[in-house]
Amino acid sequence: MDLFEYQARDLMERAGVPVLKARVARTPAEAQAAAEALGTAVTVIKAQVKTGGRGKAGGVKLAKSPEEAAQRAAEILGMSIKDHVVETVMVTEGASIAEEYYFSLLLDRAERRYLAMCTREGGMEIEVLADERPDALLKVPIDPRRGLDEATAADIVARAGFDEADAAELVRVFVLLGEVYRDNDATLVEVNPLVRTTDGKILALDGKISLDDNAAFRHPGWSVFADTSHDDPLEVRAREKGLNYVKLDGQVGIIGNGAGLVMSTLDVVAYAGRGLTGHPKPANFLDIGGGASAQVMADGLDIILSDPQVSVVFVNVFGGITACSEVAKGIREALKQLGNRATKPIVVRLDGNAVEVGREILQEYAHPLVTVVDTMDEAARAAAELASAAMGGN
Ligand SMILES: Nc1ncnc2c1ncn2[C@@H]1O[C@H](COP(=O)(O)OP(=O)(O)OP(=O)(O)O)[C@@H](O)[C@H]1O
Ligand SMILES: [Mg+2]
Repeated sequence: MDLFEYQARDLMERAGVPVLKARVARTPAEAQAAAEALGTAVTVIKAQVKTGGRGKAGGVKLAKSPEEAAQRAAEILGMSIKDHVVETVMVTEGASIAEEYYFSLLLDRAERRYLAMCTREGGMEIEVLADERPDALLKVPIDPRRGLDEATAADIVARAGFDEADAAELVRVFVLLGEVYRDNDATLVEVNPLVRTTDGKILALDGKISLDDNAAFRHPGWSVFADTSHDDPLEVRAREKGLNYVKLDGQVGIIGNGAGLVMSTLDVVAYAGRGLTGHPKPANFLDIGGGASAQVMADGLDIILSDPQVSVVFVNVFGGITACSEVAKGIREALKQLGNRATKPIVVRLDGNAVEVGREILQEYAHPLVTVVDTMDEAARAAAELASAAMGGN
C-alpha cells in the first residue's frame, strides 16, 4: 500500500525525522486557513497524488500569502497528474534550500535484503541521474537482521561524499529513516529531496512510503490509510467479508477454490463464450479458498448475485481438504440464507474428494436454479450459453 506524502510525513515526524510543519486541505478556503495557521511568509502547496513527477506537472507551487495559497490550491485541486486527479493538497512551510540530496531504503526481493540508495545530487532529476549516470547513485546492501545501523549510515554518508560538517546529522537522520522503515513494515522509504537549508538544517522535504500489506494484521492503525474512495463498491463489500474477489467486466459470475483453479475457470469461460451471441465473459475472480464454509459460499454468492451485470453463476470446486460434500452443503445453506435474493441460474461442477456425496446432496435438494454438470469444460459451456441467452442469443 502506497501512502500519500502527508501520511509519509506524519510517520517520519513521529519517528523524529526532521520535517516541516504541514496541513492538509481539500478546498482553496481550507488551504488559505492552513497557510494562516502555519504563519510563515512563504508556504508551498503540494498536490497529494500517489505518483511521481508532481513538481514537473505543476503540482508543487509557492505562495507568498494565505490568499495566494488559496489561488495556488485552486489551480492544483482538480488537476490530473498521470491520470491521478488531485483531491487533496498539502500546505507546508517554505524552506530556503541550499542543496537537495536523495535517500531511499527499499526491499530488494531478488537479493533477499534491503537496499539503501543515496546521492548528493537529489531533486526532480533523480530518474535521469539513475538512468544516465548510475554510478553517481550510491547503492548499499543492508542486512535485514541488522537494519540500517549507525555504522552503515556513517559508511553511506562517507561514500556519498557529504561535507564533514553535515555528517553527524545525516547519520542521525538515516538511522531514523531506517527506523521508520523497520517499525512500519515498509517496503520503501524514499526522501527526495532531503535538503540542507541555507541555515544548515537537514530536512526531509518530500516522502514516499510503501507499506507491506502482508504486515497489515499487526498494524491496526493502518485502517486510516485505507483509500477506498475509488474502489469498486462490490470489491469493498467483498473485502469487508474477507473474500478474495476482483470485479471484471463480464456476465458469468465465478466462484472457485484455489487461485489457480479460478484463473483457469476464467479462461475456459472466456473461451466458451467466444463463439456465442454477445460473447459472454467472466464477471469476476473469486477464490473461496481451501476450507470454504457454507458462510463463505453464501457471502460469495451474495456479492456475485448483487452484480447487475451477472446473469449466471458458475461454481467450480475441486474437493481437496474441503470435501465436495461440504461444498454442496455450503451451496444448499447459501441458497437457504439468500432466499429470494437468489434469482440467477447456478451451474455447479464438483470433482475430487467426496464428489459422489456432494452431487447427491445437490440432486436431492433439487433447487430449480441449480444445475450440476460433470466436467469443467461442459459446465463452462453451459454457463456461457445461459449468459448468451440472457444477452439475446439462443
Ligand atoms: N517546502 C518546500 N519549500 C521549498 N521548496 C520545496 C518545498 N517542497 C518542495 N520544494 C521544491 O519542489 C521540488 C519538488 O517537490 P517534491 O519533491 O515534493 O515533488 P516531486 O519530486 O515533483 O514529486 P515526486 O517526489 O512525487 O516526484 C523539490 O525538489 C524542491 O525543490
Ligand atoms: Mg520528490
